[in-house]
Amino acid sequence: MRILGISCYFHDAAAALLEDGVLVAAAEEERFTRKKHDFDFPENAIRFCLDRGNITGKDLDYAVFYEKPFAKFDRILRTSLQSFPRSYGMFAQGMRTWLLDKLWVKSTIAQSLGIDSSKILFSEHHISHAASAYFCSPFEEAAILTLDGVGEWSTATMGVGKGTNLDLTDELRFPHSIGLLYSAFTAFLGFEVNEGEYKVMGMAPYGTPKYLDEVWKVVVQSGDGSFWLDPQYFSSHYSTKRAYTSKFEDLFGEPRIPDAPFFTENTNYPDYFGPRPRNYEELCAYNQRYADIAASIQLVTEELMLEIARALHRQTGLSKLCMAGGVALNSVANNRILNETPFQELYVQPSAGDGGGALGAALYAWNCALGNSKRMVMDHAYWGQDYGVDEIRTALAETGAGGSFIEDQQLLTDMTVERLTAGKVVGFFQGRFEWGPRALGNRSILADPRSASTKDLVNNKVKFREPFRPFAPAVLEESCEDYFVLPNPGQQMPARFMLLVVPVHDNKQEEIAAVNHMGTARIQTVQQEANPIYYELIKKFGDATGVPVLLNTSFNVRGEPIVSSPADAIKTFAQSGIDSLVMGNFLIDKD
Ligand SMILES: [Fe+2]
Repeated sequence: MRILGISCYFHDAAAALLEDGVLVAAAEEERFTRKKHDFDFPENAIRFCLDRGNITGKDLDYAVFYEKPFAKFDRILRTSLQSFPRSYGMFAQGMRTWLLDKLWVKSTIAQSLGIDSSKILFSEHHISHAASAYFCSPFEEAAILTLDGVGEWSTATMGVGKGTNLDLTDELRFPHSIGLLYSAFTAFLGFEVNEGEYKVMGMAPYGTPKYLDEVWKVVVQSGDGSFWLDPQYFSSHYSTKRAYTSKFEDLFGEPRIPDAPFFTENTNYPDYFGPRPRNYEELCAYNQRYADIAASIQLVTEELMLEIARALHRQTGLSKLCMAGGVALNSVANNRILNETPFQELYVQPSAGDGGGALGAALYAWNCALGNSKRMVMDHAYWGQDYGVDEIRTALAETGAGGSFIEDQQLLTDMTVERLTAGKVVGFFQGRFEWGPRALGNRSILADPRSASTKDLVNNKVKFREPFRPFAPAVLEESCEDYFVLPNPGQQMPARFMLLVVPVHDNKQEEIAAVNHMGTARIQTVQQEANPIYYELIKKFGDATGVPVLLNTSFNVRGEPIVSSPADAIKTFAQSGIDSLVMGNFLIDKD
């Protein structure tokens, strides 16, 4: 039986194909269209999934959409009417986009796949999130927590998964939402909503949570894990342009100027910011206030998540927890849940946000609606498209990029290690691209993590990012505990997907200075069976240097999606300061 899951029209559009309950392919649309967070109908991702499964739309038994458009429309209509006429702009825009395409998703799917509309099913937004976590987890029974901005009405749900049953028993409803709370601060701190949340998380360690009292004024917690956002401070229920009100500004002051360079005395000041301004100290103090606000909202978010998780544990008594929804990408909070609640094991699948809803919708249909007992475990993220030798060769020839084919994999690995230890920045392109927002060794930029200056080097050559944003370490799973505070790393699958931020052992912080972010790191543990080529590379780098860790960042330049095809990789290689490109068995050196 073949089931295709689809998500689109809100955040990340994606498609996922199941065959008899086993995942065949899954990808976000942005990788094909090269439009970051593309939310249009995922024609390309669907075509890729069908091709990978060697089928056409007509061979599908079901196509499942990840939410219920009419229920969502109902929420938007009602909230718009409640705050009319303030919400006029949102109302008018909403009507236009909803009446044009969102409500008629059924006919769009039927037309695109060439199938009868009786084969099209609809899941619910948070059920799709819940299914995407629980039905990919290795657990037979687990508590489930979903947290995001908003789906139809729900913003958070709690429940239990057992066997093929999924039972969501509690929910919080719009506008009371951790996702919307965090997004309001993301906007206030001068970053783009749905994109800049990572930046707030990266900025937080440079601040002191001095504004906790103020943040607890806009969000009120009750003892049972639930909370309430004070509507006086937020405008996302009536405005598409602004997430917070002037009362919010009275409390937190002027918002940060968007795109203004952000630095404090504890971050550095990179070359690409230009010459150091004369009022550098003054600007540091100005920025410090925003870092302190970032630290405050991050801490409050962690506290809210901890309280919900504790309430869920009291209710279920279970030791395993599955989480999904965009908020489950808050890898700092995830590790605190592991450490500070009675839950012993956590599962989050790599595409925890709305893209993952496509996968969850298909799994919900297979396991719940159709009652099939066969389940899958997602223990790696390599579900995207791969490219053969001939395709890579053609792309290299077409672009005149040159390069040599090194047939002996061992030799190629040795040559890659040589480049890394010589301080070169390496683009690493292998096999199928990753599912979810993180590059995990198949579309990665790699570098030697031992010197703090590598961070500037990679930023100067490729990323041009804010200097406070961390680079992540990829570490052999068996060496993880030597460097990081994470007991039983083999048991914590989110660590495979860079979804846990953990402390770095004090005596190791110098040794891996480029990936040490104020004493913490967003780790990726690497297993031989999950990715043998990447594993071997880190192992050989460890043999050569004594440090089985590499700096891993996504293979893209700022503002672009992660590369997908060989042509994307060659273009990024040419445009950036990456020194060497290892693509399949081809090695291309810039000089
Ligand atoms: Fe969501």
